[in-house]
Parts: sequence; C-alpha cells; structure tokens
Amino acid sequence: MYLHVSYKYMFPYGRLTRRVVPAERGMIMKKKLTLVFAAAMMILAMAGCGKEESKTLVMATNAEFPPYEYRDDSQNIVGIDVEIAEAIAEKMGRELKIEDMAFESIITAVSTGKADIGLAGITVDEDRLEFVDFSDSYTTAAQVIIVKEGSAVAAPADLEGKKIGVQLGTTGDMYADDIADATVERYNKGFEAVQALLQDKIDAVIIDREPAKVFVSENEGLKILDEEYTLEDYAIAVKKGNTELLDEINEALQELKDSGELQKIIDKYIVAE
Ligand code: ARG
Repeated sequence: MYLHVSYKYMFPYGRLTRRVVPAERGMIMKKKLTLVFAAAMMILAMAGCGKEESKTLVMATNAEFPPYEYRDDSQNIVGIDVEIAEAIAEKMGRELKIEDMAFESIITAVSTGKADIGLAGITVDEDRLEFVDFSDSYTTAAQVIIVKEGSAVAAPADLEGKKIGVQLGTTGDMYADDIADATVERYNKGFEAVQALLQDKIDAVIIDREPAKVFVSENEGLKILDEEYTLEDYAIAVKKGNTELLDEINEALQELKDSGELQKIIDKYIVAE
C-alpha cells in the first residue's frame, strides 16, 4: 500500500510513463521501419534503374558506310542497319541507342559488353568468331573493286603489285593484305580511300558493293569492276556466349524476314537494277 501510494506520488504519471516507453519503442520501431522502407525503395529504385538500362539495346556501328549506316544532312545516323536494329529493338521492347565508333573498335565494344550488338555491315568471318557470335545472316554482300575510268586494272588478278586502298580492319583490308606484292593503304573511312583514288594516290579500292555504288555515283570518273572479289554474309555480332540475346535477335530477325519487313527496309535504300 505504502509502496503503491509512494509510487503514485513519486511518479504521478507512472502509468503514462510506462505507456510512453512502449510508445517510444514504437517510435524507434517506426523509424527502423521507415529506414527499412527507404532502403527497400532505394533498392527498388536501383533495380528500376537497372531495368531502365537493360531496356536499351546499344548498337555499335561505324556510320561511314552508306546505305547501311551513314549520317544524313541533319547528322542523324540512318540506313539499313539502323532500321533493322530499330525494328529488332522494338520487338524486344527495348530502346535503341547507337554508338558511332571506328569500324575496327566494334568487335571489341561487343566482346567487352560496351555494346549489346555490332551492326555495321559486318561480314561473318572466322577470325571475328573467336571474339563474338554472329546472328543469322540478314543479307548477302560482296567485295568489289573500284578503279578510275580507263584504269589498267580490269579484273581482280590485275591487283598484284598495285597500291590498294581499304577501310582499316575490314574484310577488304584482309583480302588486300593477301594480294601478292600489293601495297595496302588503310584509311579510317571507306570514303577516304575513294578520295585517295580520285587523287591518284592509289590504284584501286576494295570495298563492299553497296557503299562502292554510292561512292561511285557521287564522284565522276570512277567505276566498279564487273568481276566481284568475294561474296559475303552480313550478320549481327553479339558477345560470345550470350545465347539468350542471340536467340532473341535471331527470333526477331526471322520475324522481320517472314513479314517481308526486312526486304522492305533493304528496298528502301537499295534500288534493284
Ligand atoms: N563488310 C566489311 C567487313 O565486315 C566492311 C564493313 C564496314 N562497315 C562499316 N560500317 N564501316 O569488314
């Protein structure tokens, strides 16, 4: 009894105090929960960001290769490959992001994961298969020889001992390298090789057929030899072993082939002769 009274006396708000304590604990709990909630939100937000990131499809290209990829008058990168990539990205529910770089950097960009796909009129080639995987082919292509009108070079066999211009790191570069006694002049852009030819610095250019047609049509005094150098397949490069992405791309590509959309894209840029 005494104790009871004294307790009340000394702690008139004893009960209250006791209630306050749990309430304080509640506050702490609430704070903790708030923190947990905040952390969870942050993780979700980060995961969300990650998702945002994987929602893009990064395409490494070299926009010096009409009609596959080049800059239009407003400096936008356009062309067959760009439209194919856009169509694939759309089917995958991703947003296409284009990274324009030197042609010879594309395979590295893909193999290191800097880019998801390499799409740049890339020829399927044994050496490249060591670093990347290729999708199914989306078109066939050819290497051709550009010379000046009236040139002594009339067929591939005449290239022996000649000065040949190529774009650095392309299959044209590899082929030229194999020609007996030829001197290979390597340029960063295919068009620079064509300019060198116009200025008589070199005897011929080995380059892919469609860009060759564009460059020859834009410059007087050049022609493409009738005999093609080689036939090739263009495909999309993805990181080696990324079968998930490769499958998705092949699936999208097949749909574009089946629906006729792929051919439509090609026909938009390449007028059949
Ligand atoms: N087809 C050739 C190759 O794979 C040349 C491609 C060049 N492409 C470009 N966008 N510059 O080596």
